[in-house]
Amino acid sequence: MAAVVTPVLMAGIGEADLRDITVYRQRGGYKQLERAFKEFTGVQLLDMAKASGLRGRGGAGFPTGMKWGFLPGNDKPRYMVCNCDEAEPGTFKDHMLLEETPHLVLEGILIGAYAIGCKHAFIYIRGEFKRGFEIMSKAVEEARAAGFIGKNLFGTGNDLEFTIHRGAGAYICGEETALLNSLEGKRGEPRLKPPFPAVEGLYKMPTVVNNVETLAYLVPILEKGAEWFAAVGTEKSKGFKIVSISGHVKKPGNYEIPLGTTVRELIEIAGGPREGRTVVAVQPGGGSSAAIFDQNLDLPYDYESMAKAGTMLGSGAMVVFDDTTDFVKAAYSLVRFFAHESCGQCTPCREGGHWLEQTLERFVHGQALQSDIDMLKKVSRQLTGINLCALGDSIEPFLASVVNRFPEQFEARVLKEMVSK
Ligand SMILES: Cc1cc2nc3c(=O)[nH]c(=O)nc-3n(C[C@H](O)[C@H](O)[C@H](O)COP(=O)(O)O)c2cc1C
Ligand code: SF4
Repeated sequence: MAAVVTPVLMAGIGEADLRDITVYRQRGGYKQLERAFKEFTGVQLLDMAKASGLRGRGGAGFPTGMKWGFLPGNDKPRYMVCNCDEAEPGTFKDHMLLEETPHLVLEGILIGAYAIGCKHAFIYIRGEFKRGFEIMSKAVEEARAAGFIGKNLFGTGNDLEFTIHRGAGAYICGEETALLNSLEGKRGEPRLKPPFPAVEGLYKMPTVVNNVETLAYLVPILEKGAEWFAAVGTEKSKGFKIVSISGHVKKPGNYEIPLGTTVRELIEIAGGPREGRTVVAVQPGGGSSAAIFDQNLDLPYDYESMAKAGTMLGSGAMVVFDDTTDFVKAAYSLVRFFAHESCGQCTPCREGGHWLEQTLERFVHGQALQSDIDMLKKVSRQLTGINLCALGDSIEPFLASVVNRFPEQFEARVLKEMVSK
């Protein structure tokens, strides 16, 4: 049977104005929040998250229930922070949810906050998402007026406050500890871990940072049950996922699918390759991920299969490249992005990124040396695994994968007189 899209979080988008709280409530909105407060304890919700198999949709795929379980059992205030920074090249699902169905996002955050015993939740919205920020601000006002934020919610004696914080447009502020620094009004730089946010996060208090999509899934999971979610997907990659598909396909966009749908099926869902063209590479997990080729296109799109193929599912941003692609330029543009976004704390990331950028610039202008090809491989390997955060490790994977796969494209940019010598 052909793979199909399965709208769960995306249900109703494009059919109804879900930004209007009345419309959202007519469709059952905020019922799960009320049920959470009235019928469940935090521990029961944590068990539900564990049983559903839900894993973080922000990039690392860490099991959500397990992450909540790392919070220490002390009586310090604890915080839930929703990460809506979404700056990974190729990812455009979170701001779609923010702009199209803000109440679902909010309901998910509030359920997650209640589950971990938090009295003050936050959403960190990337600076460029002005429209999303305005839509969410209105949604929060409406939810507060309806009694879903504030004191004594649903008459249960529980209080829950909510704050929206706008970032200033730095990719690094999507990294959870840089985000927390930024939220505290400090420079957006990753912190040394440990301590992890669960122990020492926002204002040095126990904190959970979860992605928009992760938290939004709590609503349908509570409604339909952990078993419903866990029955979909593969053995270890459960449930649904919104995949942002872009590049050389006829219908780029966000598609919600069961995890385990194959990469090739996803390309078909997005309209297939352009007329007369062949797909030669796919980046399955955003700008930070290595490309996959040929036989790997029939792999199931899940965390394990992508890792086995030497890449990652990441935040679910699939970029498709056909046989017209200039991989030198594609690699250059990504390396330039990461070099620009480095916060500068670690030498390999700060210096190595720019070094690679300059080397690739020589290739782009046809002025590279033969030795630059080996240097590209050597320097990029030296960048990985020795940085404070994963940005430094993101510079190399795509570049290395395409240099190895399409060496002729790089060779062709070596200075001709150097080749003939
Ligand atoms: C450089 C960098 C950028 C990141 N950007 C984002 C982002 O925009 N949104 C996000 O949810 N996670 C991002 N992450 C991952 C977060 O650090 C964190 O793992 C995630 O928000 C946890 O949520 P989850 O468990 O629900 O996936 C980024 C990580 C790195 C290293
Ligand atoms: S790896 Fe790069 S972005 Fe991350 S902390 Fe180090 S210098 Fe900053």
